[in-house]
Amino acid sequence: MSRITLRQLLDHAAENAYAVPAFNMSNMEQGLAIMAAADAAGAPVILQASRGARAYANDVVLAKLIDALVEIYPHIPVCMHLDHGNDLATCVTAIQHGFTSVMMDGSLREDGTTPADYAYNAAITRQVVDMAHAAGVSVEGELGVLGSLETGMGDQEDGHGATEKLSQAQLLTDPEEAERFVADTGVDALAVAMGTSHGAYKFTRKPDGDVLAMTVIEAIHKRLPNTHLVMHGSSSVPEELRREINAHGGDIKPTWGVPLEEIRRGIRHGVRKVNIDTDLRLAATSAIRRTLAGTPGEFDPRKYLKPAMEAVKVQCLQKFDAFGTAGQAERIREKPLSAMALAY
Ligand code: G3H
Ligand code: 13P
Ligand code: ZN
Repeated sequence: MSRITLRQLLDHAAENAYAVPAFNMSNMEQGLAIMAAADAAGAPVILQASRGARAYANDVVLAKLIDALVEIYPHIPVCMHLDHGNDLATCVTAIQHGFTSVMMDGSLREDGTTPADYAYNAAITRQVVDMAHAAGVSVEGELGVLGSLETGMGDQEDGHGATEKLSQAQLLTDPEEAERFVADTGVDALAVAMGTSHGAYKFTRKPDGDVLAMTVIEAIHKRLPNTHLVMHGSSSVPEELRREINAHGGDIKPTWGVPLEEIRRGIRHGVRKVNIDTDLRLAATSAIRRTLAGTPGEFDPRKYLKPAMEAVKVQCLQKFDAFGTAGQAERIREKPLSAMALAY
């Protein structure tokens, strides 16, 4: 039994001063590659599926895939998490399919694009927490809207993300309000807005404090030392992957991601979950482009998906090392969901 709740996993991470990468997954190849890396690193891991991933893969396929991964790697604690849930039903159906954690992203309205006010966010998140905790499942909430401090634009990823220009107040989580939000909702983890955004185009230059406000994390951690903080949009967007893609017919414009040292700074100030999707996408794409360019006659998908899985594994290993997750798997004793339900 290697399924674990987010709460239990992040409690262990907090006690031992590390963070757990939450890798987005929407197919078998990603799942196998991430788990092969977790196994090689001896690291617990968070696998997360967005609404887009669930629509792509089908909930039943995802549920059976999680079962398979857990069976193949029984010694690796795996938290299966819903990324950016938009309403109660999305969270309920994730739990019905074996997820041990859900994110209720009430920073946006149900349409996934309109910024919500505090009252809406707190009320819907509280509702999800009451439902999920009764089932022993953990909940991540979000306060503040993800988006760029450079442009004021919210980010859009597969239809999710604010579409309107946002104010600095919306783009930066207010520490005082964060304290109130955690008390009002009872969330297990809190996603913070401080200038990161989803996708490859986060910053036009190496980020400094003007565009990546790590001080917001520090201020929130001071007020909420026992709340697990979450950094979204935390891919580093490695320059070598961009070059490799472009060298083989791709067109990724110059860009910057979140440097690993900034994430490590966050980990010293309460960040326990770090969301990574883009780096794995770039790694897979660079390997596929390289393989197909080198062997133009190849048409067996296994021949280019295998190198893609290797490239994804390399990225995962780097994160497990950088975040201090490597070697922690064997130190965790997980509890069944029934015990977690009683503990809530
Ligand atoms: O939440 C953002 C992740 O990158 C997921 O993206 O909705 O395209 O699966 P997606
Ligand atoms: P990236 O696009 O930076 O990988 O962020 C993913 C994310 O935050 C998913 O919720
Ligand atoms: Zn996100």
